Amino acid sequence: MIKKKLNQFIDKGFCIIDLYSKNEHKYLLSKIIKKINKNIPAKSKKLSAKNLKFYHSYQDKEVHDKVIKNTQRYISLDKKLIMPIIKNKLIQKISNHHWGHSKFSIKWVGSLKKPMKLNTTGFRIARPEKLSSKDVGGEHLDLHYGGKKNTNQKKLFTLWCPIVGMSKNYTLRISPGSHKFKHPLSSISKQKKYISMVLNKNYVKRFKFIRPNLKVGQVIFFHPNLIHGSSKNLGSKTRVSIDLRIFNNTYS
Ligand SMILES: [Fe+2]
Repeated sequence: MIKKKLNQFIDKGFCIIDLYSKNEHKYLLSKIIKKINKNIPAKSKKLSAKNLKFYHSYQDKEVHDKVIKNTQRYISLDKKLIMPIIKNKLIQKISNHHWGHSKFSIKWVGSLKKPMKLNTTGFRIARPEKLSSKDVGGEHLDLHYGGKKNTNQKKLFTLWCPIVGMSKNYTLRISPGSHKFKHPLSSISKQKKYISMVLNKNYVKRFKFIRPNLKVGQVIFFHPNLIHGSSKNLGSKTRVSIDLRIFNNTYS
């Protein structure tokens, strides 16, 4: 099974991993809710595990801007959430294959101006597309993290984990096999708004995309040269997800 998934990763640039138990997922959810609630004024309705999916109907613009601000939309990861990643046999196998070892650190590239935070992950909130079309970024490669053009594909992997929104109406939109292409630097559009530089629509047109259906605790583990993004929330719930970066210790 591990061999099969490793081969899928080599060939398609991603694989789905059973990472967290239901309990660990619940714990992750509670940490995110706690962080969001810190930014919700006392007079407004606080969030809970039950109503997080209705976030879009509760929060006004001012509160939302505060919740998703780069200095706020992250949580720290403790042992309970880090150990399943470090101990995962498939992640070890994929790292060994690509890097020659499996020593890595989990870091969050939060702000362009600040250094990366260790054992931290960012979370994202995307309200339903029909209500808010600006919550998702365009197609990009995580390779160019920190807003810098990078060509070393051995620096990192990404792990995307849905917290709310598991079906393909919500999940990350990825282009299988696109990691094998040498994406020219000229395919990056000229804008500095996003941390991962967005690819030109014209360039992206030639690639095919899929959105997997996931179960609680499953994550998409993918290659830094894999095109992904523009993952519109086509459902009726607010999507909440984390995107965790696994950095090769050789370069950090
Ligand atoms: Fe990304």
